[in-house]
Amino acid sequence: NRPELTDKFGRRLNYLRLSVTDRCNFRCVYCMPENGMDFAAGPVLLSFEELYRLSRIFCGLGVDTLRITGGEPFIRKGLLPFLEKISGLEGLKEIKITSNGAFWEKDLERLKQTGIRKINISLDALDPERFYQITRRNSFERVYAGIFRLLEKGFELKLNCVVMAGRNTEDILPLIGLTQDYAISVRFLEEMPFNGSSSFIRSWDYKDIYAHISRHHPHIEKLEDGENATATNYKIRGHRGSFGIIPAYSRTFCGTCNRIRLSATGELRTCLYGAPAADLRQLLRSGADDAAVETAIRDAVSRREKDGLAAEASGRQNPVHASMSVLGG
Ligand code: GTP
Ligand code: 5AD
Ligand code: SF4
Repeated sequence: NRPELTDKFGRRLNYLRLSVTDRCNFRCVYCMPENGMDFAAGPVLLSFEELYRLSRIFCGLGVDTLRITGGEPFIRKGLLPFLEKISGLEGLKEIKITSNGAFWEKDLERLKQTGIRKINISLDALDPERFYQITRRNSFERVYAGIFRLLEKGFELKLNCVVMAGRNTEDILPLIGLTQDYAISVRFLEEMPFNGSSSFIRSWDYKDIYAHISRHHPHIEKLEDGENATATNYKIRGHRGSFGIIPAYSRTFCGTCNRIRLSATGELRTCLYGAPAADLRQLLRSGADDAAVETAIRDAVSRREKDGLAAEASGRQNPVHASMSVLGG
């Protein structure tokens, strides 16, 4: 019988999203401005030793799934040896990665040896110019080639597309086209306000996205969604792959949310939309033993809000919405 981290609404938290850096080589418009990002200085980043220790403690509390995020996780030197080390943690069933897909020449064989199979890659457009307008980097060919390389190597891929009116709605159907021949899942995300600025205009919601797809594809089949899935999943009849829609801003899935997040500087969040619920860096560096860290984590979880709207209402007075790269994907 494994221990559990459960909030007062009965939701079991077994999925930790671990950000290993807030830095990125891209500058996606929905995530951060081109200039003026105030990235964490080296000393306030959790070291790999600290990340390992916290991961071990979380696994001891019942976490069995880790997702490595950023910023762009592969930008951090020493990531592979860290992944090798945490892959042996007791109680851990799976490690997954979210990446922008620009670093696929990293040693893929070695990455595979860690047991990691599932990688989510951002791909907001299939048109190089629109890709550039969104990411502010000319890396479409590179990312696109990398996707096929990863597939060849046997990784299971999900592609994430943040849907933005006026920027990439024309890419929705071509992205779905990819699922015809490839066993990938393409997910369409509602845009959220975490772009490192104070401006945000709500774009297409999940209903708009579905309506658009169904106008062009009459034969959509509903797939079963995982117990704690953020995506509602479908496939086009006859296609090898599938597609999903993530109501990231409408937040219709909060009732089954099993996620907890640790920022690269050690801030613990029990909701993407909430304020930090504990400063684990400070705690570790004050010499706290494992029991004290466990208590801080349990305390944070006991204060977890019912949903993203409640968390937003209680936590966020700041007019500047943090960048997703700071929140940890
Ligand atoms: P898996 O289910 O493990 O594949 O993960 P995922 O789909 O959450 O992974 P990914 O890192 O690709 O995140 C995709 C998007 O889901 C994020 O960009 C968000 O839009 C959304 N998302 C993930 N977690 C949360 C969450 O806790 N709250 C909300 N509102 N959206 C989330
Ligand atoms: N709204 C929605 N999704 C976002 N992502 C980053 N910022 C935002 C935002 N403001 C997505 C990226 C990546 C995933 C982890 O988060 O596209 O695929
Ligand atoms: Fe980088 Fe990901 Fe943010 Fe784009 S969404 S700037 S790839 S961290």
